[in-house]
Amino acid sequence: MPGIVLVGAQWGDEGKGKATDLLGDRVDYVVKFNGGNNAGHTVVIEGEKYALHLLPSGILSPNVVPVIGNGVVVDIGVLFEELDGLDKRGVDTSRLRISANAHVITSYHTTLDKVTERFLGKRRIGTTGRGIGPAYADKMNRVGIRVQDLYDESILRQKVEAALDVKNQMLLKIYNRRAIEVDEIVEELLSYAPRLKPMVADTSLELSQALDAGKNVLFEAGQATLLDVDHGTYPYVTSSNAVSAGACTGSGVPPTRVDRVIAILKAYATRVGEGPFPTELHDDQGEFLRKTGAEFGVTTGRPRRTGWLDTVVGRYATRVNGVTDFVLTKLDILTGLDKVPVCVAYDVDGVRHDEMPVNQTDFHHAKPIYEELPGWWEDISNCRSWDELPATCQAYVEFVEQQIGARISVIGVGPGRDEVIVRHDLLKD
Ligand code: IMP
Repeated sequence: MPGIVLVGAQWGDEGKGKATDLLGDRVDYVVKFNGGNNAGHTVVIEGEKYALHLLPSGILSPNVVPVIGNGVVVDIGVLFEELDGLDKRGVDTSRLRISANAHVITSYHTTLDKVTERFLGKRRIGTTGRGIGPAYADKMNRVGIRVQDLYDESILRQKVEAALDVKNQMLLKIYNRRAIEVDEIVEELLSYAPRLKPMVADTSLELSQALDAGKNVLFEAGQATLLDVDHGTYPYVTSSNAVSAGACTGSGVPPTRVDRVIAILKAYATRVGEGPFPTELHDDQGEFLRKTGAEFGVTTGRPRRTGWLDTVVGRYATRVNGVTDFVLTKLDILTGLDKVPVCVAYDVDGVRHDEMPVNQTDFHHAKPIYEELPGWWEDISNCRSWDELPATCQAYVEFVEQQIGARISVIGVGPGRDEVIVRHDLLKD
């Protein structure tokens, strides 16, 4: 079972850490293949909380090789800060590999991200302000800087000049900001080069060799299905491919090497930033989910928007990712509700939609059609097997499973690593 892709089924923050913890020491490589330091997961080292934004979660396991693939955009300053933080806590980070083809986020990308959002005003995307969109725009526009460019000063200077040519005009004339000096950027990037050098590799080749040797490689998506630039709620999306197919383009490993696709689905829905969210709650129940589920961003600290589980979205995630197994997280948060609403379809101007509407405008107007399932009051956080779950809770899981069209192999019943019910082994069954 060597190639496993892990994706988020909704709008992110589904709790991917749960699945990575479960796979733990059985994985040899953990590959980040999209996004940059817009993601965020909190890890606890010796009782101390530590937030990681860019590094793959595998960095903490001594037997795992963490890989940053070519599809990632890397803010090298942030990378070094995260590495320093871990080094101080005695975590060995020397195994990290970074693709020579990964693109670099520079200070002009973060500046542009922030000024563009401000300029958009009411039409803003609600980005994390980390320069992600502008860095990917440069990549597609063929004026990006790649990690390998740091090792050829003359090429680096030419590329920075090309990138800043138009941007400085925009900064000066449209955004009323100061122009950015080419020298300043080149010097900063060159200063990173020596420390970065030992990590830079042909990661596509290394991963291919690892798979040939029968190693377990976990490709971990940043963000999630509905934030994917092609398959999400465009333009309220991130600028990369967060669906399972992105694992291939973002790492240089072909689809034929992917054996399993695991999607994480939270038992309710959350979203950060702007964009349509049919089951969003603006009432006490929304507040209840936010408080009980501790729904505040790791990267930005923003309170997350909250709503009921939307199985139209879940079904869509199954289809576009080719999900083989779901991990249903935070089921314990729903404990104590009389009835648990689950969205099964949408009403769009009087017409029922069982699948995601093809037009984004319809999705913006979609009114959720709910089925209300009987709730449970028992504390489920101590349950470790399917049989221990209350019957109404089991019925809820089976109903969701049937709606989303793929099996729920693992259920999260509490925040701890061990607070799970495993119905099917994610690597074997
Ligand atoms: P960007 O990725 O910073 O360009 O932001 C684009 C959209 O994706 C915004 O709505 C962000 O809030 C959202 N986003 C980016 N990263 C995450 C994440 O890790 N979890 C949830 N939302 C995210």
